[in-house]
Amino acid sequence: MAAIRKVVFPVAGLGTRMLPATKALPKEMLPVVDRPIIQYALEEAAAAGCEEFVLVTGRGKTLIEDHFDRAYELFDTLARKEKRADLEALEAAVPPPGGIVYTRQQQPLGLGHAVWCARHAIGREPFGVILVDDLIHAETPCMAQLAAAHARTGGNIVAVMEVPAEHTARYGVIRPGAADGRLVELRGVVEKPRPEEAPSRLAVIGRYVLMPEIFDQLARQERGAGGEIQLTDAMARLVGVQPFHGLRFEGRRFDCGDKQGYLEAIVALALERPDIAPAFRETLRRYT
Ligand code: UTP
Repeated sequence: MAAIRKVVFPVAGLGTRMLPATKALPKEMLPVVDRPIIQYALEEAAAAGCEEFVLVTGRGKTLIEDHFDRAYELFDTLARKEKRADLEALEAAVPPPGGIVYTRQQQPLGLGHAVWCARHAIGREPFGVILVDDLIHAETPCMAQLAAAHARTGGNIVAVMEVPAEHTARYGVIRPGAADGRLVELRGVVEKPRPEEAPSRLAVIGRYVLMPEIFDQLARQERGAGGEIQLTDAMARLVGVQPFHGLRFEGRRFDCGDKQGYLEAIVALALERPDIAPAFRETLRRYT
């Protein structure tokens, strides 16, 4: 089974839940501890062995391109001042030349439309999708868990997580079939169901391995929930046609597109950093 070489990062959303911070700043550039959220996502994909990152951007997102550039003056100044650790951290954040491809979603017509905008860069091979504001902290990077599952079963795999019944309307929710360890057969998927209509409490979280046939479904440009072209609807049409599984991934997920989730991510990740945790823990004590 071929490895997952390419990953799509749809970053063209408007980020209205984090306004006014995201009026001029892309939400993907909000920092968690000392790096922007999007850097965690690219590092996760690289750790899973992916080599080509396809960013689907929109208006007002050029800072993301600057972040993954070499910033010559900064590199030069740090080198002259022999600030090796800072320089290494910066170097590590820049992907190899040609590793990033940018394409633009000219209108925010929905996640499905954003993924469809990446079709020429992906071609006809299985690929990953990472929703950057779902930050997942895991021993084995979540995309690597999905890629390993794909190597076993082939076909489409989505990361899933149990959510409280009253939250189903925030997610795509799967109709589960037979389970095999952390893998669960996917019999259907519905976008944002009300609790009484939800087929389960297993919600799709922002990591996917998809087969290229998804593009044929997305090409229909059909509008779904909220009048948007939904990735969930295109996925639903592949169920029963190709192997399709949900993976109850290992790790902690933070919804950084939401204020509570974003703040929790900062606290949780800061407490895992040996250079920051001891002093930060003392600081936190003063507030609890
Ligand atoms: P969200 O549902 O989080 O929407 O999109 P949003 O616009 O980014 O944020 P809010 O809800 O207004 O605060 C899920 C993912 O799909 C991408 C977003 O960038 C995010 O990663 N997306 C969504 C697009 O790239 N294009 C779209 O048209 C819609």
